[in-house]
Formats: sequence, C-alpha cells, structure tokens
Amino acid sequence: MSERYIPAHTIDYRSKMVVVLGATGTGKTTGVKQILRSSAKRALIVSLDGGEWKGLPVTELRCAKDFGFTDVRVHLWDPLRSMNVLNYFRNGIIVFDDCRGYFRSATSDQLHKFLLLMRHNAVDIFVIAHGFTEVPPVFFTFATDFVLYRTLDSITRRKQYISGFTNVAKKVEEVNAISYGKRPHPKNYNGVDGDGKSLAGRKVVNDHYCDAIKNG
Ligand SMILES: Nc1ncnc2c1ncn2[C@@H]1O[C@H](COP(=O)(O)OP(=O)(O)OP(=O)(O)O)[C@@H](O)[C@H]1O
Ligand SMILES: [Mg+2]
Repeated sequence: MSERYIPAHTIDYRSKMVVVLGATGTGKTTGVKQILRSSAKRALIVSLDGGEWKGLPVTELRCAKDFGFTDVRVHLWDPLRSMNVLNYFRNGIIVFDDCRGYFRSATSDQLHKFLLLMRHNAVDIFVIAHGFTEVPPVFFTFATDFVLYRTLDSITRRKQYISGFTNVAKKVEEVNAISYGKRPHPKNYNGVDGDGKSLAGRKVVNDHYCDAIKNG
C-alpha cells in the first residue's frame, strides 16, 4: 500500500444532520444563526413565514438554476412544490426552522429518499423543533448530532430511531436540569443575539442553556 494512502475512516466526510430541540423561546433560532454566521457555507432557511429570519433575502425556487446563490437565503415553504424543488440544492446548509409545519403530507419513504439525496449532495441539515415528537422519525435515523435546549416532551417516543439513545437521553436530562429556572448559562453564552447585537442589559426571561452531543 502506498505511503500516501489516507485511511478513509480517519476522515469524517458525512454530511451533518443536526436535530435542534428546545421549548419555545429557549434560543434555538438564535443559536443556529450563530452557527451559520461562523460557517462559511451557503445556506437556505426553510420557514413557514420567514418571521424569525427578517433581513435575509427571500428567494423563489423553481428550477435548478435558482440554486446558484452563495449567501444565506430564506425559502418560504410551499406544501405543493418545496419537497421536489429542494432536491436541486447541493453543497450547503438547509435549515428547517420549526419543522412541525412541513412534511405533513410526506410519507416516511419520501422523506427517507430526500434525506439520502441530501447526504449524497453534501448538504448539511439542521432541523429545528420544540421537542422529539414534532420531528418525523426518519430524521432521527439520519441524525449525526443533537443540539439540546430545555425540552418538555419525551425522548422515549423516538427511542427505536435514535442509535445513541442512552447517551442522548442522559444529555436531555442534564440540559433540562441545568437550564431549569436558570439565567443563560455562561458556557454557551457569547453575549450577542442572533443578529449580532449585544444582549448586555437585556432582560432575560428564558433559559438559554444548550449542549451538543453526537448521535452514537
Ligand atoms: N444565549 C442567549 N442569551 C440571552 N438571550 C438569548 C440567548 N439566546 C436567545 N436569546 C434571546 O431569547 C429570545 C428567544 O430566542 P429565540 O428566538 O432564538 O428562541 P427559539 O427557541 O427560536 O424560540 P421559538 O421556539 O419561539 O422559535 C430572543 O429574544 C433572543 O434574543
Ligand atoms: Mg425560533
């Protein structure tokens, strides 16, 4: 074997499929905005109304050539067209913010094919929801990472789909215990909100602690 041979298992070339969970107002959108800012990748935010992503261009997506953009854009979910047209996206990040609003009519077979294609197309997915039961089960079978804020619903309803169930369940408990009734936890608190504005002096009413864990 050549000395230049690089063992494939040392390279993590998988696309990410990150499940971001937390109750209302825990800081999910803010956290994902921070991740997008620190990543150099282009991104498409899928949203029902774009409400939490004001200031970003909303883009019409009808065919492959509408996908040439290199910045961060918002796509408003269209139940009739979105699933099909998103197949054209390659090399970047897709964020499904508040995902309970989409995928209602999609079968798990369709979603499975979609997620396989996204992985093949080098697309990283962030799927954001309030709790485990809002996310279609098939997303958990593809999940590489979890970002967990305080969640209220139970992970056990998705147990059979989560390969790292024991570890993830432990992390859920940990995050819930730390965030309960607390001010933002310093560990993940970098003092700016999702738009880069300082949070200094702002009245904080929620718990913003989160932690990340690999699914496995
Ligand atoms: N780490 C943090 N420290 C202080 N304030 C924060 C932090 N993260 C978010 N916030 C503030 O808390 C509020 C709610 O945050 P955000 O909108 O990100 O929550 P969310 O989980 O997306 O809520 P929803 O479920 O309603 O979509 C915002 O005003 C935001 O600026
Ligand atoms: Mg949000």
